[in-house]
Amino acid sequence: MITLDGVSKRYGADAVAVAALSLTVPDGELCVLVGPSGCGKTTTLRMINRLIEPSSGRILIDGIDVLRMNPVELRRGIGYVIQQGGLFPHRRVADNIATVPRLLGWDRDRVETRVQELLELVGLDPRQYARRFPHELSGGERQRVGVARALGGDPPVLLMDEPFGAVDPVTRQRLQQQFLDLQHELKKTIVFVTHDIEEAAKLGDRIAVLSKGGVLEQYDTPPQILGCPATAFVADFVGADRGVRRLAVTSIERDDLSQPPRVNLQFSMDDAYATTAASDSRWAVVVDDSERLHGWIDLAPGQVGPVGDHLVPFEVQLPLGTSLRTALAEMLQHDVRWVPVVEGDRYLGVMTPNRLHAAMRRSVGGHPMEG
Ligand SMILES: Nc1ncnc2c1ncn2[C@@H]1O[C@H](COP(=O)(O)OP(=O)(O)O)[C@@H](O)[C@H]1O
Ligand SMILES: [Mg+2]
Repeated sequence: MITLDGVSKRYGADAVAVAALSLTVPDGELCVLVGPSGCGKTTTLRMINRLIEPSSGRILIDGIDVLRMNPVELRRGIGYVIQQGGLFPHRRVADNIATVPRLLGWDRDRVETRVQELLELVGLDPRQYARRFPHELSGGERQRVGVARALGGDPPVLLMDEPFGAVDPVTRQRLQQQFLDLQHELKKTIVFVTHDIEEAAKLGDRIAVLSKGGVLEQYDTPPQILGCPATAFVADFVGADRGVRRLAVTSIERDDLSQPPRVNLQFSMDDAYATTAASDSRWAVVVDDSERLHGWIDLAPGQVGPVGDHLVPFEVQLPLGTSLRTALAEMLQHDVRWVPVVEGDRYLGVMTPNRLHAAMRRSVGGHPMEG
């Protein structure tokens, strides 16, 4: 856990870069510092590993005051990634990645194994990349080597300063996704700086929005930041299309689903009419005894024989936890008004446009701030 407690940085008498900033990053979470240029993001990040000394306040990592630690030792325990990877230009990729393991005094074999492991982890073939120099890499590859190097000594904490800022948009999206997958596996405690709210919403468990002078405007989950901006500054910063962005950061939950009538695959159409008589639905979902989804049937009267003979398969089904954005995209793509949601093999209910809207409200506690 990282705790900033009233941390300030002043340059000279009246230049405040960061003003009494307090926030906590729980273990294994990724906290994004976002805000316009010059609002103190880099300064905040560099105070955590003491590349910059705070003017006042306390910074704790797992309860230990970093200001009382030896800064060199402190930095060995914290991975640091900057734009363009910040690699040593005259050292090969393998030597760049080996930097901290060597400082930690690991033996040759262990260092070599670690370098291979890390290159594979970031999706670069060691045979192809280990002996290259940084200038022999693309921007995206350099960035991945930068991440590998930061992970060298397996630090619990990572600090990342606009790491994907210098690559083209397509590479950037790919790097973000790979990095998310990696973080899922590694569960590092991360402070990540960006000026891009879209990147913040995609990557962050929590987002801290800063304004000029390092003032914390709001610290919250992406759906809260986008759905309930706490101040006019935040509302303006996240932009008028924040509603659409929220779709991407809100996932389908069990309670969001609508429950049209269900019938068993073994039923006859007569059984199906009888069990659905009380509902005014014109169709029913067909499941088997293990609640596996088979499709749906039209409940128009006059049909005979087993339900199985009238079964229409669903064109698409979504796993629980899918984003509302994907759900909406599938509805539009297949031109349907309901999409079944499953958990593993089990059918749970259907998502509809109305339910999607309700889920958006649910995600901000029922009181979205619109406009
Ligand atoms: N060494 C310095 N001396 C004086 N002012 C500085 C120094 N470093 C940064 N600043 C100022 O502190 C503010 C915050 O800078 P920075 O943390 O780099 O912002 P960000 O990373 O959010 O763009 C800016 O106004 C910047 O000009
Ligand atoms: Mg910066």
